[in-house]
Amino acid sequence: MRRFEGRVAVVSGAAQGMGRAVAERLGQEGATVVAVDINGDGANAAAKAIGGKSFGVACDIGDEDAVAKLFQSVASKCGKLDVLVNNAAIVPFVKWDELTFKEWRRVLRVNLDGLYLMCRAGSDLMRKNNYGRIVNFSSNSIFAGTPNMAHYVASKGGVLTFTRALATELGGYKITVNSVCPGLTDTEGVQQTPHKEAFGFVEMLQAIKGVGKPTDIVPAVAFLASEEAHWITGQALAVDAGMVRW
Ligand SMILES: NC(=O)c1ccc[n+]([C@@H]2O[C@H](COP(=O)([O-])OP(=O)(O)OC[C@H]3O[C@@H](n4cnc5c(N)ncnc54)[C@H](O)[C@@H]3O)[C@@H](O)[C@H]2O)c1
Repeated sequence: MRRFEGRVAVVSGAAQGMGRAVAERLGQEGATVVAVDINGDGANAAAKAIGGKSFGVACDIGDEDAVAKLFQSVASKCGKLDVLVNNAAIVPFVKWDELTFKEWRRVLRVNLDGLYLMCRAGSDLMRKNNYGRIVNFSSNSIFAGTPNMAHYVASKGGVLTFTRALATELGGYKITVNSVCPGLTDTEGVQQTPHKEAFGFVEMLQAIKGVGKPTDIVPAVAFLASEEAHWITGQALAVDAGMVRW
């Protein structure tokens, strides 16, 4: 399939994990991908692997000035924005008794403030063409209330409800806004935390057995980012082998 021929897509957190997998798929299907990450080398490596006119940008999505510069560069180099995948986030493992306000702010600054900044600037560019697809990464932890990440769970609940509200705000511009709620997925980020010990427990709760990989999540994101998903907005899609049903 070449669903993104002629399309420009910004993917945050594209240096590794699910962001990289999404960026690669959109690129394989014809998109010019702007691979965004706080890890600039990783973003550039992802863009190089995709090829064509894709390029990487080092950007902290929680930094208002950096995000403004990012979208100025998208506008000047690409002239438009069709797809915005907000995947970048901090995935912490912190016991409740150790959850300080500083740590709470560290995560909320990126996972929610960063999402706002990316959607603010990204949708302003999309509105010029009356077309857009925004896909936000929530998490199925919002249904499970997963332990050792209360601030993260709060942020991802915010992603879901912000998505609903933004869908209302942007519907008049033919911009759709949806979220995906992955289950535990084997990424570089998860491998760096004790969450990696939870795969067995999570598998027990899944309808379909196995360990989730980034490529298991990509098809849902690509569909919601495609033209044919034009009649779907404000929705949250669990992509977790049937662990959560709601
Ligand atoms: N892996 C899982 O089990 C899982 C489950 C549910 C939801 N999610 C969500 O899926 C998304 C991707 O998860 P992952 O496991 O692939 O993540 P990961 O930790 O492997 O990668 C995250 C990427 O985001 C980047 N990033 C972090 N802070 C940033 C910032 N301030 N600005 C720009 N880039 C930044 C990192 O450098 C990294 O490349 C996240 O939104 C996460 O919350 C993950």
